[in-house]
Amino acid sequence: SVEMKVGRLNHIGIATPDIAETRDTYAALYGLDKVTAVKDFPELGVKVCFVDTGNTELELLQPLGPESPVNRFLEKNPKGGQHHLCFEVADIFAARDAMRARGATILGTGEPYTGAHGVPVIFVHPKDTHGVLIELMQEPA
Ligand code: CO
Repeated sequence: SVEMKVGRLNHIGIATPDIAETRDTYAALYGLDKVTAVKDFPELGVKVCFVDTGNTELELLQPLGPESPVNRFLEKNPKGGQHHLCFEVADIFAARDAMRARGATILGTGEPYTGAHGVPVIFVHPKDTHGVLIELMQEPA
Protein backbone atom coordinates (compact mmCIF):
# COMPACT_ATOMS: atom_id res chain seq x y z
CA SER A 1 0.00 0.00 0.00
CA VAL A 2 1.10 3.59 -0.42
CA GLU A 3 1.19 3.92 3.38
CA MET A 4 4.06 1.43 3.60
CA LYS A 5 6.83 2.78 5.80
CA VAL A 6 9.95 0.95 6.87
CA GLY A 7 10.63 0.07 10.48
CA ARG A 8 13.90 -0.15 12.38
CA LEU A 9 17.32 -0.49 10.82
CA ASN A 10 17.92 -4.21 11.31
CA HIS A 11 21.52 -4.37 10.10
CA ILE A 12 24.25 -2.93 7.93
CA GLY A 13 25.74 -5.36 5.41
CA ILE A 14 29.51 -5.26 5.00
CA ALA A 15 31.24 -7.29 2.28
CA THR A 16 34.70 -8.63 2.98
CA PRO A 17 37.20 -10.97 1.37
CA ASP A 18 38.11 -12.33 4.86
CA ILE A 19 35.24 -12.54 7.33
CA ALA A 20 37.34 -13.70 10.30
CA GLU A 21 39.83 -10.88 9.86
CA THR A 22 37.04 -8.30 9.54
CA ARG A 23 35.27 -9.66 12.64
CA ASP A 24 38.51 -9.42 14.59
CA THR A 25 39.10 -5.86 13.39
CA TYR A 26 35.71 -4.66 14.70
CA ALA A 27 36.45 -6.31 18.04
CA ALA A 28 40.00 -4.96 18.32
CA LEU A 29 39.31 -1.41 17.13
CA TYR A 30 35.81 -0.79 18.47
CA GLY A 31 35.31 -3.36 21.22
CA LEU A 32 32.49 -5.01 19.25
CA ASP A 33 33.09 -8.54 20.48
CA LYS A 34 29.50 -9.82 20.66
CA VAL A 35 29.70 -11.91 17.51
CA THR A 36 28.07 -15.04 16.14
CA ALA A 37 29.93 -17.97 14.66
CA VAL A 38 30.60 -17.77 10.93
CA LYS A 39 27.91 -19.75 9.10
CA ASP A 40 27.80 -20.88 5.48
CA PHE A 41 24.67 -20.19 3.44
CA PRO A 42 25.29 -22.09 0.19
CA GLU A 43 21.84 -21.19 -1.15
CA LEU A 44 22.68 -17.49 -0.74
CA GLY A 45 26.29 -17.78 -1.89
CA VAL A 46 27.74 -16.24 1.27
CA LYS A 47 29.40 -16.93 4.60
CA VAL A 48 27.83 -14.72 7.27
CA CYS A 49 28.68 -13.55 10.77
CA PHE A 50 26.72 -11.02 12.84
CA VAL A 51 28.29 -8.39 15.09
CA ASP A 52 25.98 -6.94 17.74
CA THR A 53 26.53 -3.18 18.06
CA GLY A 54 23.85 -2.61 20.71
CA ASN A 55 21.28 -0.80 18.58
CA THR A 56 21.77 -2.72 15.33
CA GLU A 57 23.99 -5.41 13.82
CA LEU A 58 26.73 -5.61 11.27
CA GLU A 59 26.20 -8.45 8.81
CA LEU A 60 29.63 -9.48 7.57
CA LEU A 61 29.46 -11.18 4.18
CA GLN A 62 32.15 -13.19 2.46
CA PRO A 63 31.49 -14.80 -0.93
CA LEU A 64 30.95 -18.54 -0.91
CA GLY A 65 31.84 -19.80 -4.36
CA PRO A 66 32.23 -18.23 -7.80
CA GLU A 67 28.49 -17.59 -8.26
CA SER A 68 28.22 -15.44 -5.14
CA PRO A 69 26.39 -12.12 -5.64
CA VAL A 70 29.06 -10.49 -3.45
CA ASN A 71 31.88 -11.26 -5.90
CA ARG A 72 31.05 -8.38 -8.23
CA PHE A 73 31.09 -5.94 -5.28
CA LEU A 74 34.53 -7.20 -4.21
CA GLU A 75 35.85 -6.86 -7.75
CA LYS A 76 35.09 -3.14 -7.45
CA ASN A 77 36.07 -2.95 -3.76
CA PRO A 78 38.81 -5.55 -3.23
CA LYS A 79 39.28 -4.78 0.47
CA GLY A 80 35.54 -4.91 1.11
CA GLY A 81 33.16 -2.16 2.14
CA GLN A 82 29.64 -1.17 3.05
CA HIS A 83 27.35 -3.32 0.91
CA HIS A 84 23.73 -2.64 1.97
CA LEU A 85 21.38 -1.34 4.64
CA CYS A 86 18.48 -3.48 5.86
CA PHE A 87 15.20 -2.09 7.18
CA GLU A 88 12.45 -4.16 8.73
CA VAL A 89 8.96 -4.06 7.23
CA ALA A 90 5.68 -5.33 8.69
CA ASP A 91 4.63 -7.19 5.52
CA ILE A 92 7.25 -8.10 2.93
CA PHE A 93 4.71 -8.61 0.13
CA ALA A 94 2.99 -5.29 0.81
CA ALA A 95 6.42 -3.66 0.89
CA ARG A 96 7.41 -5.24 -2.43
CA ASP A 97 4.17 -4.08 -4.05
CA ALA A 98 4.57 -0.58 -2.58
CA MET A 99 8.14 -0.30 -3.86
CA ARG A 100 7.04 -1.26 -7.35
CA ALA A 101 4.08 1.15 -7.21
CA ARG A 102 6.58 3.86 -6.24
CA GLY A 103 8.71 3.06 -9.28
CA ALA A 104 11.57 1.18 -7.60
CA THR A 105 13.20 -1.91 -9.08
CA ILE A 106 13.36 -5.10 -7.00
CA LEU A 107 16.41 -7.24 -7.74
CA GLY A 108 15.99 -10.73 -9.13
CA THR A 109 12.52 -12.14 -9.68
CA GLY A 110 10.99 -9.81 -7.10
CA GLU A 111 9.78 -12.80 -5.10
CA PRO A 112 10.80 -12.56 -1.43
CA TYR A 113 13.25 -15.30 -0.43
CA THR A 114 14.67 -16.45 2.90
CA GLY A 115 17.76 -14.50 3.93
CA ALA A 116 20.44 -15.17 6.52
CA HIS A 117 18.08 -14.16 9.36
CA GLY A 118 15.59 -16.87 8.36
CA VAL A 119 12.87 -14.44 7.27
CA PRO A 120 11.82 -13.29 3.77
CA VAL A 121 13.74 -10.43 2.18
CA ILE A 122 13.89 -8.41 -1.03
CA PHE A 123 16.53 -6.03 -2.34
CA VAL A 124 15.85 -2.65 -3.96
CA HIS A 125 18.20 -1.64 -6.77
CA PRO A 126 20.80 0.93 -5.67
CA LYS A 127 19.96 3.15 -8.65
CA ASP A 128 16.68 3.95 -6.92
CA THR A 129 18.37 5.04 -3.68
CA HIS A 130 21.28 7.20 -4.83
CA GLY A 131 23.73 4.33 -4.96
CA VAL A 132 22.76 2.48 -1.77
CA LEU A 133 21.55 -1.12 -2.01
CA ILE A 134 18.56 -1.49 0.34
CA GLU A 135 17.37 -4.78 1.80
CA LEU A 136 13.84 -4.98 3.16
CA MET A 137 13.23 -7.77 5.66
CA GLN A 138 10.06 -9.20 7.13
CA GLU A 139 10.01 -8.20 10.82
CA PRO A 140 11.09 -11.18 12.90
CA ALA A 141 8.07 -12.59 14.79
CO1 CO B 1 21.49 -8.16 4.87
